[in-house]
Amino acid sequence: MVTKDYYSLSEAAKILGKSKETLRRWDRDGKLEAVREPISNYRVYKKTQLEMFSDLLSNDTEDKVDNSVIPLKDYRVLELFAGAGGLAIGLEKAGIKCVALNEIDKWACQTLRENRPDWNVLEGNIKSFDFSKYKDKVEIVTGGFPCQAFSYAGKRLGLEDARGTLFYEFARVVKEVSPPICIGENVKGLLSHEKGQTLQGMISILDEIGYNVMPVQVLKAINYKVPQKRERLILVGIRKDIDIKYDYPKPHNKIYNLSDALKKGELYDNNVPKSEGSKYPDHKKEVLDLVPPKGYWRDLPVEIQKEFMGKSFYLGGGKTGIARRIGWDEPCLTLTCSPAQKQTERCHPDETRPFTVREYARIQTFPDDWKFMGSISQQYKQIGNAVPCNLGQEVGYSIVKFLNDYYSLSNPK
Ligand SMILES: C[S@@+](CC[C@H](N)C(=O)[O-])C[C@H]1O[C@@H](n2cnc3c(N)ncnc32)[C@H](O)[C@@H]1O
Repeated sequence: MVTKDYYSLSEAAKILGKSKETLRRWDRDGKLEAVREPISNYRVYKKTQLEMFSDLLSNDTEDKVDNSVIPLKDYRVLELFAGAGGLAIGLEKAGIKCVALNEIDKWACQTLRENRPDWNVLEGNIKSFDFSKYKDKVEIVTGGFPCQAFSYAGKRLGLEDARGTLFYEFARVVKEVSPPICIGENVKGLLSHEKGQTLQGMISILDEIGYNVMPVQVLKAINYKVPQKRERLILVGIRKDIDIKYDYPKPHNKIYNLSDALKKGELYDNNVPKSEGSKYPDHKKEVLDLVPPKGYWRDLPVEIQKEFMGKSFYLGGGKTGIARRIGWDEPCLTLTCSPAQKQTERCHPDETRPFTVREYARIQTFPDDWKFMGSISQQYKQIGNAVPCNLGQEVGYSIVKFLNDYYSLSNPK
C-alpha cells in the first residue's frame, strides 16, 4: 500500500514486487525513472509515479493496450509548424487527412512535397497567412509552435498580450478556423518556463478564444512504440460548445529499444538501409572509442574526463547525456537537431560514429521510404525536430476517438 510521497529504491522494489537491480535497469532504460535525492544522489520514487506504474504492471509484460480506432467519417487536419512531417505522418496513419500544412523552412517544405505531392504545403511565415477559408473545412488544428516568453501586463493573459509570439499565431489560426479540437505540442520544458506562467498564459488565451484546455500531459514516447526517451507536452483544447470527454492515448507497456529501431523485428521488416551520416572530429572519436555501450563520460579515465568536460567537470550533476554510447538493449536518448553537437553525443553501439540519417529517422519511427531534402545537416535538423511518427499516430487515434464520439453522440452544428 503506497502511503507517503517519496519511496527509496528498496521500498519501491518491494511495492512493485521487483528486484532493486530491475528497478535500476528500468531507470537506466527510462521505463521507470527515479528522481535523485539532491545530497546523497540516491534514487527515490514519487508516490504518483509508483501508483501509475503498478497499474501498468498489472497488465504485465504482454502489451494488451490498443488505442487504434476507425474514423466514422473523414476527419481533416490543418497542421501548423509542420516541419518534415513527423506529426502529419502519424496523424495520416491514424486515418486523418492532411488538408493543408504550413511551414517556413524551405527544405522541410521540399521534404513534404517530395513525399506527398498531393499535400497542400503552404510555405512561408505563418504570420503572412490568412486561414479563415479553412473554417468548417477541418475538424482539427495542430501545431508544435516554438516556445517563447510573453510579457505580462496583467494576471490573466489575453490573446492580444501574446501578439508577436508564435503561440499567438497558433491561437489566431484556431480562432479563425474554429475546429472542434486543437492540439498544441511542445517540449516538456514549457511546464517550468517562466515558473509555469507561460503555460498558464497559453491556457488562459485558449480559454478566451472559446476552448477548454484538458489537464496538460507530458507523453513519454517510449510508451507509444518509439525506441527513444523523448517526451512531448500536449495541450488539448476542446471547443466550449462540446461536452464530450477527451482521453489521452493509453500508454503501452512494451518498450522498444535501439535494436528494434535499427534491426529487423517488430517495428521494421528489415535492417536499417545504408545512408549518409556525419562523423565525429578526430579528437572526439579518440575519446568516444574508450566509452563502452551504455557508458558515458564517467567511464573514461579521470584525466580524459577532465580534459573532455572542461569546466563542466567541476560543476556536479550527472550529465548522463554527455559522451554517451547507446546500447542495443535500451531506448535511445532524445535525438537533437545535430548529431555531432557538443555535450549531446549519442554514439552508435558498435562503431564510433553518430547515427546515420536513416538510423536517425528510424529512431524517430519515420518510414524508410520517407525522403529528406537538403544537405545532411538540414536532414538531421528536420528529423531531430519532429514528433516521432508513432507517437503522432497514437495521439491521432485519441483525436479520432474524440471526434467519433462527438459526431455520434451529439448533434454537431
Ligand atoms: C518543432 S518543429 C515541428 C515539427 C513537426 N511538427 C514534425 O512533427 O515534424 C517546429 C517547426 O516550426 C517551424 N517554424 C518556426 N517559425 C515558423 C514560422 N514563423 N512560420 C511557420 N513555421 C515556422 C520551424 O521551421 C520548424 O520546422
